[in-house]
Amino acid sequence: MSQKDFLLSLLQRVSGTNQLSLFEGFPRNGTHAANSIPFTFVDLFSGIGGFRLGFERAGGRCLASVEWDRYAQRTYKEWFGEVPLGDIRKIRPADLPDHDVMLAGFPCQPFSIAGVSKKKSLGRAHGFKDLTQGTLFYSLASIAEIKRPPILVLENVRNLLSHDKGRTWEVIQKTLQDLDYVVFHKIIDGADYVPQHRERVFIVCFDHHVFGDRPQFGFPKPPDRKPPKFQSLLEREPDSKYTLSNHLWDYLQEYARTHKEKGNGFGFGLADLEGQTRTLSARYYKDGSEILIPQSGKRNPRRLTPREAARLMGFDDSLPIVVSDTQAYRQFGNAVIPLVAEAVAHEVVKTIAWQVSRSGNGCLIKTAKEK
Ligand SMILES: C[S@@+](CC[C@H](N)C(=O)[O-])C[C@H]1O[C@@H](n2cnc3c(N)ncnc32)[C@H](O)[C@@H]1O
Repeated sequence: MSQKDFLLSLLQRVSGTNQLSLFEGFPRNGTHAANSIPFTFVDLFSGIGGFRLGFERAGGRCLASVEWDRYAQRTYKEWFGEVPLGDIRKIRPADLPDHDVMLAGFPCQPFSIAGVSKKKSLGRAHGFKDLTQGTLFYSLASIAEIKRPPILVLENVRNLLSHDKGRTWEVIQKTLQDLDYVVFHKIIDGADYVPQHRERVFIVCFDHHVFGDRPQFGFPKPPDRKPPKFQSLLEREPDSKYTLSNHLWDYLQEYARTHKEKGNGFGFGLADLEGQTRTLSARYYKDGSEILIPQSGKRNPRRLTPREAARLMGFDDSLPIVVSDTQAYRQFGNAVIPLVAEAVAHEVVKTIAWQVSRSGNGCLIKTAKEK
């Protein structure tokens, strides 16, 4: 069989692996899907590695991770056996290893864009150079500019697209295009994978010098199977410390009442045990009000336990929780749902296979550098 035929058959096999098995056979460190094309990646703003788990599952091998929060580093060390590098702004891009895919769930930090409107009024194009140095997106873009990974996969909150009347997204997209990437983006709701409404924008970029102007790429279709019911994720006998005190429960009800009267705000969210929850946020540790669990009898509702928060994000029970409750809620509330990352990764792999088969060149990085 010629190399091209082999790769085409590989592509067909990869195309057939769309079916996701929810929570079963969940990605664990070092286990790779059998029918995948090997590729390498770096995990920037790694948090606890939700992105990494999904991309490993699709056949990727992580070469470096970057995360400065020491509690997230602790979890990452426990799960992956390595401590991520610290502040991304202090990392010299050239010190990172060459990689095929850059993953970055960059923080939804308010963007400071230097003088875009002034330059716009002067009729000048804006982009990379308009980003204030020190902006985390600037760090990410600088790494892309110097390392030239053939593929970037970025993730952020849905509001990134509407922030500052769309100007932030305009600059980000323009920046990536100025760096010669073809940009795809889509809002994906995690509710297709786990019982949680969680909309995130995924931005997938292909180096136009490697993949051409029209890379063959599409975002994943929702899996056929429905996610498990929220109820099925709950612990049988959660500690009573997760039940709201009368004081907090009274406060939340009063808060909801006054805000309803004023016609704004949603107040607390009592979860539908048969359905899906609201979005788990990084501030869940404060009062847990966005996802409260009704309890039988006269008991006040309770908040999620950290293990339930992990499950709501699709993290497997075999992954130990090694930080305090507060840090655990923050980490899970910040994370990428690994099942969503995995679904995106399988589509990225198809594009790699498409590129490899049409170019007959098995090494994406080399191709990028030869341009
Ligand atoms: C939205 S979270 C990413 C979560 C991650 N993708 C996951 O699946 O767990 C953003 C992360 O960026 C980290 N971060 C923020 N500023 C940073 C910096 N200057 N250097 C490195 N990491 C940073 C935060 O600590 C946070 O964990």
